[in-house]
Amino acid sequence: MCGITGCVTKQGNVANILYNSLKRLEYRGYDSAGVSTVYQNNLIVKKDAGKIDEIHSRLNFLDLPGNIGIAHTRWATHGAPSQVNAHPHLDCTGKIAVVHNGVLENFLELKQDLEARKHIFKSKTDTEVIPHLIEESLKMGKNFTEAVLEAVRKLRGSYAIAVLYAGEPDKIIVARNESPIVIGLSKEMNLVASDVAAVIEYTNKVVFLENGDLAVVTSDNFQIFRIDSGIPVQRKTTELNWTLEMAAKGGYPHYMLKEIFDQPNVLREALRIQDKYLDLLTEFLDRGREIFLLASGTSHNACIVGSYMFSKLARLTTYPVIASEFIENYGSSIGIDTVILALSQSGETADVLTSLEYARYRAATIIGITNVLGSTLTRIARAYVLQNAGPEIGVAATKTFTSQLMVLALLALRLARKRGKVSQYEIDEFQEELRLVPQLVEKTLELSDEPIKKLSKETARFSSMFFLGRGLSYATALEARLKIMELSYIPCIAYPAGESKHGPISVIEEGYPVFFIAPNDETRKHIIGNIMEMKARGARIYCIGAEGDEEIKQLSDWYLGLPSTHPLLSPIVYVIPFQLLAYYTAVEKGYDPDKPRNLAKSVTVL
Ligand code: G6P
Repeated sequence: MCGITGCVTKQGNVANILYNSLKRLEYRGYDSAGVSTVYQNNLIVKKDAGKIDEIHSRLNFLDLPGNIGIAHTRWATHGAPSQVNAHPHLDCTGKIAVVHNGVLENFLELKQDLEARKHIFKSKTDTEVIPHLIEESLKMGKNFTEAVLEAVRKLRGSYAIAVLYAGEPDKIIVARNESPIVIGLSKEMNLVASDVAAVIEYTNKVVFLENGDLAVVTSDNFQIFRIDSGIPVQRKTTELNWTLEMAAKGGYPHYMLKEIFDQPNVLREALRIQDKYLDLLTEFLDRGREIFLLASGTSHNACIVGSYMFSKLARLTTYPVIASEFIENYGSSIGIDTVILALSQSGETADVLTSLEYARYRAATIIGITNVLGSTLTRIARAYVLQNAGPEIGVAATKTFTSQLMVLALLALRLARKRGKVSQYEIDEFQEELRLVPQLVEKTLELSDEPIKKLSKETARFSSMFFLGRGLSYATALEARLKIMELSYIPCIAYPAGESKHGPISVIEEGYPVFFIAPNDETRKHIIGNIMEMKARGARIYCIGAEGDEEIKQLSDWYLGLPSTHPLLSPIVYVIPFQLLAYYTAVEKGYDPDKPRNLAKSVTVL
């Protein structure tokens, strides 16, 4: 997730406005940034790696001349954070500049084709194909608008782009597919941006583009076209009464809630991860004699899900281990045949890195999944996959958890194919269901939001809670417990439901709240037995199960039905209501869900 912005003024320099807008977008990415303006028919670019202010103190964005420009703040997905990989990207003539937020699926084919036509590429990004495609169309005699239309029709994947052309220096062209774009309208200027946060200081009159829209924006006008047909369309202008702070959170009261609702899109981006990275990890996993899945906190819960997925779909045994326990427990036996798959959204957790350094010293192979390109994990690992989830600001991991699960599912699918231990039918079915996950999560958010908000009035009064699930749902129970405990400070217990009778059941007394995760999978019949055991001892039963499961609904005091998924993918869907419950319970108790006490986003001490 990157941030893009642009502005064209009636008169006066644009540099200051671009710089301010860019700063408002920094929460969307901060590993490199750049600005480009047009002055006297020349394109001027300043860009580098680092945070916006660091770059500004070196290059001074504010002395860029001109009344039109675009800018970008980056969260790397293709190519390390560096000067050449920073946006804007230019064509061969240096007259076209493009900033981009999203992931292009077909950039390699496009790049090869353009290279065959003698285009010279400077960066490792997917974005750089766009200015060169536009250059090709301009060469064929098209005007700027036609050239951008022609170029974006060739793109597959997600994109929000803003384009500047020194040959037509009165307009910025923007286009979107899946990544957002808003146009801000004012008397003195028009602006474009990834979100309202970047424009609200200048205007509250905005137009949201829809997928498949392209807009030509000048200082006093704008026109929107459909990308496929080129036909002009009207979109309504909205007047927002948002404050700057509200705008930064996308209109949500907290980053955490915004990040929970971002998940359908984040999962779509995870589905776009390039095959070559997944294949490399699959290769290492398949070669290992013993395989550990190593992580801390929420990432450890993702590892537990991963171990079930690898075992069930690919018949590969792996051991999920809490990073801080790894050296003591397994340190002396690891060696050259050991493979460690480390999961860390930040790539900087000290417990994880210390274990990895130790394992590397003993010649183990280290591979990783992380959300941060350039993090220490990416430097230690022989190979890694990036989650493409964008920065997560809320301390509690939400969107990075579900995107980790998506990456693990993609790996499990590849491993299953490679190892050939399950039928083609099962593999195809799983692949089909994977594609449906983003929309199932969308539906789950819709179904859960209101009932969970209501439930939080009750949970806020609890002094303890119990979470039970079997199989993969045990991992969901662990994550539900972690989220609720860390945000609402209520001590909670999570157990595999089958194990609950071996001890924890003694805490049950009249009215004690027990949450069951009960999807319609092979664990269902045993879960019914566990519900009965708890009911018999007076527990109050809260159940999240499949839509239409009347039997479990009857047994429950409170029930929420969710859309059905492939059994191996249920944690991605079933964790959503618990994320919401953690959020709303914290708010109900008057706590700040974005900054829970005593916790840090990234823990760099042992
Ligand atoms: C901290 C955070 C947790 C996170 C854990 C692991 O404890 O508060 O939310 O799950 O670190 O972080 P990582 O970046 O390694 O996934």
